[in-house]
Amino acid sequence: GMSIGGAIFSGNSSIEDEIDRLPIKIEEADVHLREKGRDDADGYGWVNLPYQDLTKIIETADWLARFDAIVQIGIGGSALGNRMLVNALLPPFYNELETPLRRGPRFYLLENSEPATAAAVLNRIDVSKTAFVVVSKSGSTTETIAHFLWVWQIVRDKLGNKAQEHFLVITDPKKGALRKFAKATGCRSLGIPESVGGRYSVLTSVGLATAAAVGIDIEKLLLGARQMDQRLAMRQQIWENPAWALAALNVIHARLGRNMAVMMPYGDGLLAFAEWFAQLWGESLGKNGFGTTPVRALGAIDQHSQLQLYMEGPDDKLITIIDVQNRPGFELPRKIEDDVLREFDFLCDKTLGDLLSIEARSTASALIKAGKPVVYLKIPEISERYVGALVFFYEYVTALVGLLMDINPFDQPGVEQGKRYIYSLMGRPGYQEYESEVEKYFGI
Ligand code: PA5
Repeated sequence: GMSIGGAIFSGNSSIEDEIDRLPIKIEEADVHLREKGRDDADGYGWVNLPYQDLTKIIETADWLARFDAIVQIGIGGSALGNRMLVNALLPPFYNELETPLRRGPRFYLLENSEPATAAAVLNRIDVSKTAFVVVSKSGSTTETIAHFLWVWQIVRDKLGNKAQEHFLVITDPKKGALRKFAKATGCRSLGIPESVGGRYSVLTSVGLATAAAVGIDIEKLLLGARQMDQRLAMRQQIWENPAWALAALNVIHARLGRNMAVMMPYGDGLLAFAEWFAQLWGESLGKNGFGTTPVRALGAIDQHSQLQLYMEGPDDKLITIIDVQNRPGFELPRKIEDDVLREFDFLCDKTLGDLLSIEARSTASALIKAGKPVVYLKIPEISERYVGALVFFYEYVTALVGLLMDINPFDQPGVEQGKRYIYSLMGRPGYQEYESEVEKYFGI
């Protein structure tokens, strides 16, 4: 059902043929994407999220906002989008701020099965004033369930039959163990649309409920996503439609052997965006021998770390630089008083934000001069509207690239074997047969 008329990459066609075919292929992929979206087909539901009704999510967020702290339990698509939103749209060191600078509860994520982090989070909160938000589409992810079991026990020991009043479950609307738990305990719950997969779910209850509770304007996030959707539906010439153009560039450069996609935003607030992108890109496109490896970088820090490699190392990367036009505040001195510091006069009268943007453009120019392919994206500001637009844009590009490669950008069959091994080593019934395989590789 995924085929859109043969992959753009086929063993025996030349790169010139492929490039010639691209405009037609992309148009086919786009039509397919929008048709499937309209049908709310499995995996394609994210296309409709910009138009959803937020009433239930906002109601739940209002309830969440009354707590002192929120602890969200989830991993992969059930955490990375939250990390990205909080990183981009809340002030740095948010949890350390006092109200009113901190507009909502403190926010913690329990993501990795890391005891040190879990213990540290528990030490920082008062259980009786905390909401625990358990997020899992499948309701069965081991890391998430392990955290959940641990926290549920602690909260129940402490609060007895009031424990469920501190839990919000975000999971499949009908299926799974967490859905059963919500029904059995009567704790609050929200559904994740069935047709939306984990890494495409940041604009569902997964990303939006806790975001709204900490003061992020989720209506504006959707507004940005809607405006992007309308923009992408408008221009139907390959180089005029930014999603088509970026998908095409990715396909061409991958075919030329550039098998890494470097995501290098300039601005600390977009670091977690690069991480969110890495999952979206890697898990969606790494299939059937295709896919380019996402590399997370941060400007300007990685100018002093990775840039040498990007400039003069192997020509195997397509590098994206994201620049931000308006960054508020922080003026450098008007004038330097100390004689010994006069050589830095050139920094006067500018802002730190100017410096960061100048660095973004300078790095892009240097890479171009070195003959390296660069995508330079500029957003007016880091705000709900533009983050919503960026999210939708990259989901769209990722899906298009997947369809052009004739793979399913919405599944992740490659992670199942690892899960089987985990289950077998953790002693889950029905998985014993895999234990011997691990023993074989490790000789234990
Ligand atoms: O993109 C995906 O589907 C995955 O990365 C999931 O988000 C991740 O495995 C977590 O799954 P779940 O939400 O079911 O706990």
